[in-house]
Amino acid sequence: MATSNRGQWSGKLGFILAASGSAIGLGNIWRFPYTAGENGGGAFVLLYLTFVVVIGIPLVLAELSVGRKTQLNPVGAFEKLSPGSKWPWLGKLGILTGFGILAFYSVIAGWTLWYLFEAITGGFSGEITPEVSAQMFTSMTSDPWLAIFLMGVFMILTIVIVQGGISAGIERTTKILMPLLLVILVVLAVRSVTLPGGMEGVAYLFTPDFSKIDFGVMMSALGQALFSLSLGMGAMITYGSYFPKDENLPQAGIIVAFFDTGIAVLAGLIIFPALFSVGIEPDGGPGLVFVVLPTIFNNLPAGGFFAIAFYALLAIAALTSTISLLEVVVAYFVDEKKWERKKASWVAGGACFVVAVPSALAAGGSAFFTDFMGFGIDFLSIQNNLWGNYSLSFGAVMLCIFVGWNWGIPKALESLEASGHKFAAAGVWGILVRYVCPAAIAIVLGYIVFTGTYF
Ligand code: PHE
Repeated sequence: MATSNRGQWSGKLGFILAASGSAIGLGNIWRFPYTAGENGGGAFVLLYLTFVVVIGIPLVLAELSVGRKTQLNPVGAFEKLSPGSKWPWLGKLGILTGFGILAFYSVIAGWTLWYLFEAITGGFSGEITPEVSAQMFTSMTSDPWLAIFLMGVFMILTIVIVQGGISAGIERTTKILMPLLLVILVVLAVRSVTLPGGMEGVAYLFTPDFSKIDFGVMMSALGQALFSLSLGMGAMITYGSYFPKDENLPQAGIIVAFFDTGIAVLAGLIIFPALFSVGIEPDGGPGLVFVVLPTIFNNLPAGGFFAIAFYALLAIAALTSTISLLEVVVAYFVDEKKWERKKASWVAGGACFVVAVPSALAAGGSAFFTDFMGFGIDFLSIQNNLWGNYSLSFGAVMLCIFVGWNWGIPKALESLEASGHKFAAAGVWGILVRYVCPAAIAIVLGYIVFTGTYF
């Protein structure tokens, strides 16, 4: 087996940190709050949490079991488990999806670099009103060259780390920085919740208004659960493929899912209280986090320092996710096409840069992409929906069918328990993967597709 030259995590902790690094990113801190705000708050959050438990966790384990068993990229993995079948196409879709997500994610990630730069040069000192903050945001996103440049810098950072390989590149970056991010988030959340009017934000986040739930909200919550856990495209297959033989995989997977969800909730506890406190509307769209945060740093002792630390960590959290997105694409070319890692990294990353340009111009940089072809929706949001909600959901249903019905639960379980640690919830897990998850996802996705309510 090709294990030795593919690399491996140094141990369970190495895996937990690296997989959390993939899961935790802009999905938690940028996408979760603004999607919750667009979908009415509490009801969305409740649905999201339900989907994480009922669909997300079972799928994390399903993907990891495939990866561990085959020690291959998604395409190779399906080929190995179901030779001569059409299943490898699911792996190819996953790789395309990873590429598609990276091609808009890198734009937002680029924004974090700009905010880091602003924080370092003292851009957030003094009182920042919501109007000033919104103005700062728009002047950044509507400068086409700046937006492309920032995205490009982020892409290069990603490429450089991915070409360094698994243990040296990915693991080392995550090990120290994830715990640090957690500390900063807790401090910010405490400050935000105790702002005058802050509790209103907490109530908004946790009081579900059931009349707000419709299929659109369900789709967003499902997409968010999958996106945030890096599911439905094979990232967890790829990360599971580097998992050490003698460690407890289900336990590690569940820890990652809880960690990821906890960070999203924490981000919500920072954004919503702050937003209610200064009077910003929750449905502000993709710019929400970027506009809200600068208004609270001034309310913190050593706010300037916190601003720098926060944006540095946000950029790094984004980086550990972009790494996993590019890694899925690169692992495919390395394993299946026998490309050199370095070549694969630069070619895939370079192509992604080109495809990301329209998204970089979609927040004011170009009128055409900002209101894409007069649809009333920007190009970046279209990409976000297409890859981040629909493609991941489709990939997730198919993966359930593969693991539950084709490869089979007994074999998947064998892989999950390969270290000799028994998986206590195996029975429930099998039922969820075979019946509950595919049915639930298919109903939500099917409704959206057949009624044509895409955006
Ligand atoms: N989970 C990452 C985040 O929340 C994004 C991601 C999605 C990464 C899919 C890999 C695969 O930021």
